[in-house]
Parts: sequence; structure tokens; C-alpha cells
Amino acid sequence: MSGAHNRVAVMHGVNLDTLGRRDPEVYGSQTLNELEYRVHEWARELGLEASFFQTNHEGELCEYLHRLPETADAALINAGAWTHYSWAIRDALEVARKPAVEVHISDVSNREDWRGVSVFEGLVAGVVSGKGIDGYREALELLKRELGL
Ligand code: DQA
Repeated sequence: MSGAHNRVAVMHGVNLDTLGRRDPEVYGSQTLNELEYRVHEWARELGLEASFFQTNHEGELCEYLHRLPETADAALINAGAWTHYSWAIRDALEVARKPAVEVHISDVSNREDWRGVSVFEGLVAGVVSGKGIDGYREALELLKRELGL
């Protein structure tokens, strides 16, 4: 229900549709569908309503973010490699003006240097990194708090 102010848009960026076959040592063996199912269940347990979006096209994510004020109350974003260089996606998230948490399955601070940079710095309410899929639950909890629920 939109009146409940509990809608969380869960967004995945470039290459995250390959979860399950992409470097399982780093990203685990769950597919994006399986991850989304878990997140959907966790959200329900927390009284949140999750919706899901994934794209490999930067402009599509920007346009999705432009529509966010009408479609969601909060944002959970794993932008993949765009995290590290897409100022366009940062600007689009800023336009959305919704509480947001950034998530990474892997520990981006302990990998290549370029993964240590995030365009979302200063814009998001929190970053959860290196906790695998469980990190999404933590992110949902953070967003719940941000929404005052
Ligand atoms: C990622 C980390 C990024 O550096 C990488 O480009 C991804 C996935 C993660 O979830 O660990 O595509 O965001």
C-alpha cells in the first residue's frame, strides 16, 4: 500500500544479472532471482514492500531513478561497477530525493583500488559492503529506520 510509506526500490546495475555464474568465490552462488526472492521475504518480515529493477544500460537506471519519487519511498542500490564512476547515476539518485543505502556483495574496500571509490559518497544514508546477500537485510533495516518505521 502506497499510503504505508514503506516501498523500497531495490536496484541492481550493470552485470548483476550474471550473479550465480560470475566469480562465485567473490559473489557467491545465488542468482539474482534467488537474491531478489530473499530480499522480498526479508522486506515483508520488516513490514516493507520491495520492488526490483536491474539493467545493464546506464540511461535506463537514470530514467528509473527519475521516476522514483512516484514509485518508491526509499532506495536500495547496488550499481555494480557504475558505483565507481557514474556521476550520471549519482546525479539521478540525488534528483530522486529519497533515503538510499548502497550495497555491495563483495568487500569493495579490500579489492582493487578503483573499487574503493563511490560516486554515492555523501548522498546515501549508509553503505553495506562485504556481507554477501545478508548485507541486503542490513540495508533494509537501515532504510526502515530512515523511513521512521
Ligand atoms: C559489486 C562490487 C563492484 O565493484 C562490482 O563492479 C560489481 C558488484 C558488489 O556487489 O560487490 O559489479 O557492486
